[in-house]
Amino acid sequence: MQLPYIEPYKIKMVESIEQSTPEQRKKWIEDASYNLFKLNSNQVVIDLITDSGTGAMSDKQWAEIMLGDESYAGSSSFLKLEKTVKNITGFKYFIPTHQGRAAENVLFSALVKKGDFIPGNAHFDTTKGHIEYRKAATLDCTIKDAFDVETDHPFKGNIDLEKLEEILVNTPKGKIPFVLITITCNTVGGQPVSLENIRSVRSLCNQYKVNLFIDGARFAENAYFIKIREKEFVNHSIKEIVKEMFSLADGMTMSAKKDGIVNMGGFIALNNPDTHEVCSNFAIMYEGFVTYGGMSGRDMGALSQGLIEGTSFDYLQSRIRQVSYLGQRLDEFNVPVLKPFGGHAIYIDATKFVPNIPKEEYRAQALAIELYIIAGIRGVEIGTLLADRDPITRENRFPKLEMVRLAIPRRTYTLSQMEYVAVALKIIYETRNNAKSGYTIKWEAPIMRHFSVKLTKK
Ligand code: F0G
Repeated sequence: MQLPYIEPYKIKMVESIEQSTPEQRKKWIEDASYNLFKLNSNQVVIDLITDSGTGAMSDKQWAEIMLGDESYAGSSSFLKLEKTVKNITGFKYFIPTHQGRAAENVLFSALVKKGDFIPGNAHFDTTKGHIEYRKAATLDCTIKDAFDVETDHPFKGNIDLEKLEEILVNTPKGKIPFVLITITCNTVGGQPVSLENIRSVRSLCNQYKVNLFIDGARFAENAYFIKIREKEFVNHSIKEIVKEMFSLADGMTMSAKKDGIVNMGGFIALNNPDTHEVCSNFAIMYEGFVTYGGMSGRDMGALSQGLIEGTSFDYLQSRIRQVSYLGQRLDEFNVPVLKPFGGHAIYIDATKFVPNIPKEEYRAQALAIELYIIAGIRGVEIGTLLADRDPITRENRFPKLEMVRLAIPRRTYTLSQMEYVAVALKIIYETRNNAKSGYTIKWEAPIMRHFSVKLTKK
């Protein structure tokens, strides 16, 4: 018999969870116009709305909070973080920002112009938002397998190289400032990209003389999957794999709220001195002076430590195993989930779960609301609401997959809490055929509507 795996940490501080009843939650979600983003955290029992900024910091990170140097310019906390980022990523330049989308805003201000195209693997919604806001467009080159919920492809985040090459051949010169690879690819289910694929994208980029950037929000989780799924790298350390991945890119944007294991933070890292200079000016305008970029000194110290911990194998193994424990339990209960299980989240296939609710009535949102009412679990819709409207036709964009994402915060919940989530879904699954109608939109914002949309019951 083998010893079971255990978390490589113990708990030093706890935070209580407020309990509530289905009746209370029914009223709260109605008052929130059926938008889970509008609930207060004390109305939620298990909060799986995101893994972003919701993780638990270690004792060493908290110690860094005390050591924070809050000098406006050249603080020791900045220098510490700069050293760690350069060490881990291998990039020459580093600019802190307050979070990932801020890094996108700064970098895209420097590089993206009206009429440009940014090919990549299913860009995250803020990334897409920042590109479309500049009247440029994203081109999705994710492999077809990514949209097949059952296929057991080990790297569903991969770029379809033929599709990318076709785009690179057919797009007028100068209209593609860079290709963007998101690791892991959140939008298709937290699926990793192989090193082989990143290498091939790099050589296409070399051939057609375009830059390659990485959205590295979950780069360490991606490196873990490379280590366990890509033969060439079984004997490489996570830190070696990370270096290799980034050595293939010209730069990166980072939401440190994920694999940096901090509650707030982000950065840009890159190699080109001219781009660095232009980005620095935008960073000063939007984020703050280049040695803090919207972050406190203490937060930069905690991030430096978080990046070191977040790239350790033992931590990543326990993290990914917790996520897959939830996936396996759901699978045992026949609840339809996206496979292989993602790095940061389990995605429930709402189309299979509640096929009787028309997609025009936001079936994934309807399932997320039911999960909240029954068990107080807050997930998030990754479907038609999130996909938003086409910026030109203003028609709903119906994505290939309608999912509910259960994102697992890092080092925050226990296995028994994962079991609670699995059983809650089993209970709903058993009565799924009763669900026949969903929701209609009462009000929506012109962009990124899912955060503020108001819904009514159909
Ligand atoms: N890129 C990816 C792949 C992301 O998942 C996110 C955020 C961002 C960029 C933006 O970073 O939030 O720090 O501004 N994802 C969160 C989520 C919000 O819930 O998946 P941010």
